[in-house]
Amino acid sequence: MSAQLIDGNALAARIRAQVAEKVKTLAAPPGLAVILVGDDPASQVYVKHKVADCEGVGMRSLLERHPATLSEADLLARIAALNADPAVHGILVQLPLPRHIDAQRVIETIAPAKDVDGFHVASAGALMVGRPGFRPCTPYGCMKMLESIGCDPRGKHAVVIGRSNIVGKPMAMLLLQASATVTVCHSATPDLGHFTRQADIVVAAVGKRNVLTHDMVKPGAVVIDVGMNRNSEGKLCGDVDFDNVRQVAGWITPVPGGVGPMTRAMLLVNTLEAAGSGL
Ligand code: GUN
Repeated sequence: MSAQLIDGNALAARIRAQVAEKVKTLAAPPGLAVILVGDDPASQVYVKHKVADCEGVGMRSLLERHPATLSEADLLARIAALNADPAVHGILVQLPLPRHIDAQRVIETIAPAKDVDGFHVASAGALMVGRPGFRPCTPYGCMKMLESIGCDPRGKHAVVIGRSNIVGKPMAMLLLQASATVTVCHSATPDLGHFTRQADIVVAAVGKRNVLTHDMVKPGAVVIDVGMNRNSEGKLCGDVDFDNVRQVAGWITPVPGGVGPMTRAMLLVNTLEAAGSGL
């Protein structure tokens, strides 16, 4: 039997429509500042989408492009100015940054109240101890996908593959908060399949093709693919061997059209919240 698809495009469209409705009720539109340093081609595409998404829901976006030679001090000064600007509710600095800039220092300079990426240590700490704060958009979107199919993580075994600050670690925390039993696997985990075969929910967030194959999945499991890779023909693909895993899993997210659109939608949700309104 073939797994059911979790349609990220459709769910993201529903969330964007809800955000747009909420924005209409506000006295002033929420404002998102997006800072792009350098000319990384993938970052340029991501940033373009984020700006278009804002416009699509009636939010204001402020795109700042800087050359790769921008000094760290100048970038920190720009962030300080945006922190003080009352028309800017959210600030996003697109990563990666050029190597001469300390990305963590940049993130820590963003006011936690405007940290719509959820990358600030204050946001990470709030998530860790179960306090309100911005949740990183990708794991937040994955949780919404689980909710959309009626999958309550409580009592389930969730295996997260990947331990990045952006996805793996916050994903594990969100699942734990939702009362799943959580295992975090990573590049030094021997026999990954030993763990994933026990999982009711698998989240693959490694950035490597075919990390999860059909023999590593429990029949009926929910498989969320955060990966964004290119196959040998240049086609976009995730971390999961989709065609084969879908024969075993109960639910699966496609790439493209799965987690990617949800990450973008949750940025809008966080920006709305930064402007003082929830969904
Ligand atoms: N680069 C890749 N993903 C992201 C993201 O979610 N936020 C930011 N700021 N940069 C990224």
